[in-house]
Amino acid sequence: MALRRFFVGGNWKMNGNKESLEELMTTLNTSSLHDQTEVVCAAPSIYLDFVRSSLDPRIGVAAQNCYKVAKGAFTGEISPAMIKDCGVDWVILGHSERRHVFGESDELIGQKVAHALESDLGVIACIGEKLEEREAGTTEEVVYAQTQVIAGFLLSEEFWFSFLMEGCCSVPDNVKDWGKVVLAYEPVWAIGTGKTASPEQAQEVHEKLRAWLRANVSDDVADSVRIIYGGSVTGANCRELAAQGDVDGFLVGGASLKPEFVDIINARA
Ligand code: G3P
Repeated sequence: MALRRFFVGGNWKMNGNKESLEELMTTLNTSSLHDQTEVVCAAPSIYLDFVRSSLDPRIGVAAQNCYKVAKGAFTGEISPAMIKDCGVDWVILGHSERRHVFGESDELIGQKVAHALESDLGVIACIGEKLEEREAGTTEEVVYAQTQVIAGFLLSEEFWFSFLMEGCCSVPDNVKDWGKVVLAYEPVWAIGTGKTASPEQAQEVHEKLRAWLRANVSDDVADSVRIIYGGSVTGANCRELAAQGDVDGFLVGGASLKPEFVDIINARA
């Protein structure tokens, strides 16, 4: 059984300024953080260089989105290459706000995941159902479909064909490397609402996602990929959630901007 290192991401979303982020980073840099927990903070793109240069190197940094190609006429977008150029090693992709506020399709998200991995970024890939989908009993169907698209782009023939046709002589191993993928289950109805999924609800979906990976990818990927939970995680509810066998960490929004983020990081300490 692979040992999955506990992973806590802080998604700062479109919040903060240099002064407030400096204060938050000072708290993180001076706090005792469980050394067995991998911590990654996702900053607004405009602050990536600033955050990377200010945060303790033991804490990773992520972008909150990126485009699906390396460069070109895509006003306002940033590429994985630019993210790496800032010394940043992670990117969040497929967040529900990208899907449901900005209309990103599963297809586009899959293309972004593949290109980000090919560019040697780690990917926090987000999936999750809406309240009406849960109430209709289609949670599994929705999250399996979202995961399938991502998995498909990691191994799809069309991806390899286009990749090779662009003159690349070999397919980099990292694109097939699920080792740089963290799957974030974020029920949309729990994001920013204060309505956290119960530990049982989170465990149920995480367990089913791991079973899906086992059936559709491999035992090794199922055993090693971190499946983390996001949706109104707080210092008060994190330990009970962290005690679930298939909850390998968190993707935290609002609480990651507060001192209680340290408690969440130490949920398994
Ligand atoms: O990406 C994490 C975020 O969507 C969760 O937000 O505020 O419910 O912790 P929040």
